[in-house]
Amino acid sequence: MPRILKILVAFAAVLIGLLVFVIVTGPPRSIDYELVAVDLDSETLIERGRYVATAGNCGTCHTVESGGFMAGGLPFETPFGTIYSTNITPDSKTGIGDWTAEEFLASMRLGVRPDGTHLYPAFPYPSLTRTSDEDIVALYAYFQSIPAIAQASLENELTFPFNIRSLMGFWKALFFEPGAYAGDPARSAEWNRGAYLVEGLTHCGACHTPRNRLGAEVAGEALRGGAYLDRVGEGAYRTWSAPDITSGNIGLSLWSHDELTDYLQYGRNEFLDVTGPMIEVVMHSNRHLDESDIDAMATYLQSMPGEDRADAAEPDRSIMGWGRTVYNLHCGTCHLPTGLGDTEMGPKLNRGSLVVQSGNPASMINTILYGPKVPDFEDLPKRWRVPMGEFRYELNDDEVAAVATYIRNSWDNRAGLVTPDQVARQR
Ligand code: HEC
Ligand code: HEC
Ligand code: HEC
Repeated sequence: MPRILKILVAFAAVLIGLLVFVIVTGPPRSIDYELVAVDLDSETLIERGRYVATAGNCGTCHTVESGGFMAGGLPFETPFGTIYSTNITPDSKTGIGDWTAEEFLASMRLGVRPDGTHLYPAFPYPSLTRTSDEDIVALYAYFQSIPAIAQASLENELTFPFNIRSLMGFWKALFFEPGAYAGDPARSAEWNRGAYLVEGLTHCGACHTPRNRLGAEVAGEALRGGAYLDRVGEGAYRTWSAPDITSGNIGLSLWSHDELTDYLQYGRNEFLDVTGPMIEVVMHSNRHLDESDIDAMATYLQSMPGEDRADAAEPDRSIMGWGRTVYNLHCGTCHLPTGLGDTEMGPKLNRGSLVVQSGNPASMINTILYGPKVPDFEDLPKRWRVPMGEFRYELNDDEVAAVATYIRNSWDNRAGLVTPDQVARQR
């Protein structure tokens, strides 16, 4: 080994050693809350806790079909390995039955366990930390009231060094800002309620905010479009793009307030039914929230300054021509040659479809390859006369790329090229 390399390696080793030393021995974040004494068995408190748990969608992540309610076991695939959600029923051995209200508060606010070890942000405490003490105590009362299930949590399968929980201390020092939502006195009560829910409990940013290489949401880019890995079977995952939902020119400035509240609350608005991973957000959480809360969230979202994206460069004419041919042959009968859609046949693909405009075309490609999955609404009539089928066998990567490129750059859309490689990645 050349001498300079040896020196560098030694230097790196010393640095890492120092870092570990600081993390392991550094001052623990204090957990010195004094919760107001409340009657934890109070039905009103438990009911409120149930509502807060619904808004936080705890059940979707902490329940698997084969296991019990809130008994954990759902795998989350991250670039660093697999993390399993834990048992949060009040079982004293395998769940959180022995936790005090303060310890529970610390897990949500600081992302730590009662013994002080750090939790991974697959548990979205970077958002949940914004939840108020009152709501967290209500949550605690609710979780102590549900049936206890004895079921040991699964071991995470993380690569070195991410399997060392204490290293999360370093991550937190860099990226995590604990603290309840402070409120903005210059804004209305409705706006503040919306901000409280969107930034905190409902953790929209967990999917809609871009992340850096270490998996942290990028500060200053809140809700400007992120990615989400969805499980599609044993060990298989598919990437979805969660579009920009700020009020930028490719975001929610294109939707009216009612179009947004209808979509968020019922999963259906004037032109679209909810699809993909958003289904769980709407069906398990939003649908059960008060109309006033959905209104508040929409008000907040549509007030968020977005980034106006410049028009992408015009794609090659031959690609556009080829894309138009594919479109007219396979898509135009439902989405119409104008891209404006039809109330019974298919939604508009023109500006206003956030999925089409999204910087990352993953969700749009998924829709074309696998067809849009819409929920089985029990309370709403079927809307589309013929469901859109899947095109993964009918069209090859080049054709899907061409038609996606054509749609993203026709009519009022200027969202840029989709490459065959991007399509191949979604197969
Ligand atoms: C996006 C998925 C997701 C959501 C939503 C979610 N959790 Fe979790 N939660 C996890 C994962 C994954 C872990 C395990 C983290 C780890 O191993 O460090 C976890 C861990 C926890 C823990 C620590 C348990 C322990 O044994 O250490 C508590 C408490 C908890 N969650 C409560 C909640 C509550 C309450 C809500 C709703 C307000 C909620 N979670 C919502 C994924 C989620
Ligand atoms: C039989 C009618 C039909 C055909 C043919 C069809 N679609 Fe669709 N398309 C739909 C319906 C219905 C939806 C689902 C809308 C919803 O979510 O409620 C949809 C959704 C979409 C979306 C998602 C829009 C959004 O905002 O979420 C895209 C993109 C799309 N189609 C592209 C295509 C392309 C490309 C083709 C041709 C390769 C095509 N469709 C063919 C009916 C059709
Ligand atoms: C689990 C990840 C996840 C969470 C959490 C999430 N979203 Fe989404 N959202 C998505 C994905 C993925 C899409 C792309 C649509 C699709 O599935 O095809 C989407 C689409 C949307 C759309 C655009 C719909 C369209 O087709 O044009 C809106 C609006 C939206 N989300 C709002 C929200 C709000 C508000 C929240 C918080 C209450 C939220 N989302 C939370 C993943 C998520």
